[in-house]
Amino acid sequence: MSVYKIIGGRRLEGSVRVQGAKNSALPLLAASVLSEGISVFRNCPRLSDVRATVEILRHVGCRVYAEGDALYVDASGPILPEVPDELMREMRSSVIFLGALLSRCGEVTLSLPGGCELGPRPVDLHLRALRCLGAEITEAAGRICCRAGRLTGARIQLPAVSVGATENAMLAAARAEGTTVISGAAREPEIADLQAYLREAGALVSGAGSGVIRIRGVDKLRGAEHRIIPDRIAAATYLSAAAAAGGRIRLYDVLPEQLAPVLQTMRQLGCSVSAGEGIVVLERKGPLTSPGPIITRPYPGFPTDAQPPVMAACLLAEGTTVFIETIFESRFRHVPDLRRMGAEIQTDGKTAVIRGVKALRGAEVEAADLRGGAALVAAALAAEGESTVRGLRHLDRGYEELETTLGSLGAEIRRQDGGDEGEQSDG
Ligand code: UD1
Repeated sequence: MSVYKIIGGRRLEGSVRVQGAKNSALPLLAASVLSEGISVFRNCPRLSDVRATVEILRHVGCRVYAEGDALYVDASGPILPEVPDELMREMRSSVIFLGALLSRCGEVTLSLPGGCELGPRPVDLHLRALRCLGAEITEAAGRICCRAGRLTGARIQLPAVSVGATENAMLAAARAEGTTVISGAAREPEIADLQAYLREAGALVSGAGSGVIRIRGVDKLRGAEHRIIPDRIAAATYLSAAAAAGGRIRLYDVLPEQLAPVLQTMRQLGCSVSAGEGIVVLERKGPLTSPGPIITRPYPGFPTDAQPPVMAACLLAEGTTVFIETIFESRFRHVPDLRRMGAEIQTDGKTAVIRGVKALRGAEVEAADLRGGAALVAAALAAEGESTVRGLRHLDRGYEELETTLGSLGAEIRRQDGGDEGEQSDG
């Protein structure tokens, strides 16, 4: 089992290039099956979730190869409208292949990812959107079968904000007959990134970033070249780590406007934060103070994925900090392990109340999910003494060379290698 050994208490100083966004890369790679050509994705992060997506692409018949930080997907050959159970299980976000393969092939059979670390993860909104476009959906023996021939454009009203359902609807509508209007669409930057790629590939899509997306279906899409946006959650994690441990870090290749609620929280904590074009600089000189309540919301609100690492930064903040998690049911799984490090946290349903402590101490902890793991690493960097963080398979899903990056900032962190079992991930 791979573990991190971290000796806390070192200030973080230096520059970090922010990796490409995991949550853009995964739907973009799935979207590449729509185009009957070669798509190139630059700034593609090297992550286990990307490798799992590439496996699915290869299984359905794409040629995929890497060159530097670019990933090439050649989807010009015949595409198989089926994904086996074991590949679907690797990763929750593989559900995006539902809309992608349906769009390309007019049918698709796959198994749906079940519940996972963050609580139940239903797909009713995804299916509802595809049904609106004329898909017939049947389920047997845990496999789901979607058939449509050619999909037909329609009005899709999503009753709740869902990033994945919005993406599936966009992909299905891109090659449907006629016009689709998606209202109640998610406004996350990753949706706008998907729109940018689809447009480069010849799709007629507009409105991403607002709650209403319009798509006029086209017969075919061509290959396209696209640069993946920076990962705002990885950026939030490095900022949280520096706030927790102290120091001064400069992030580059980042889009500060996409980090607004996190930057505001860092300032409220008492850090000095400046942002310029593609750059964020955070410095923590003195003690931290509670930033006031943090309520997770769909974009442009405070991102649920940043809640765990930012919580780590609040553990040492003087006063009481209240976190209210409104997106996922089980998103405080890092809390028991943070308590082992001396944090004072009470949870009640969707609320966590933190009473700032003077110091954290190193402990043996285990990541239960990706961003919870990031919280444990950030807290361990701030703690006195040595911590052992287990469950690195979760962190490897979303952070490219985390220990190398933190090490370059002066953190004492090393990976002790060994086998580590995989399991379904939380997207
Ligand atoms: C994406 C992100 C994930 C992030 C989440 C919320 C990717 C690969 N993952 O996940 O990191 O935490 O957005 O920002 O981009 N829901 C339903 N029915 C559905 C679909 C969703 O009830 O059919 C609910 C979910 O249970 C959840 C909420 O809607 O409570 C938001 O989920 P959604 O936006 O769909 O998250 P994902 O796309 O899975």
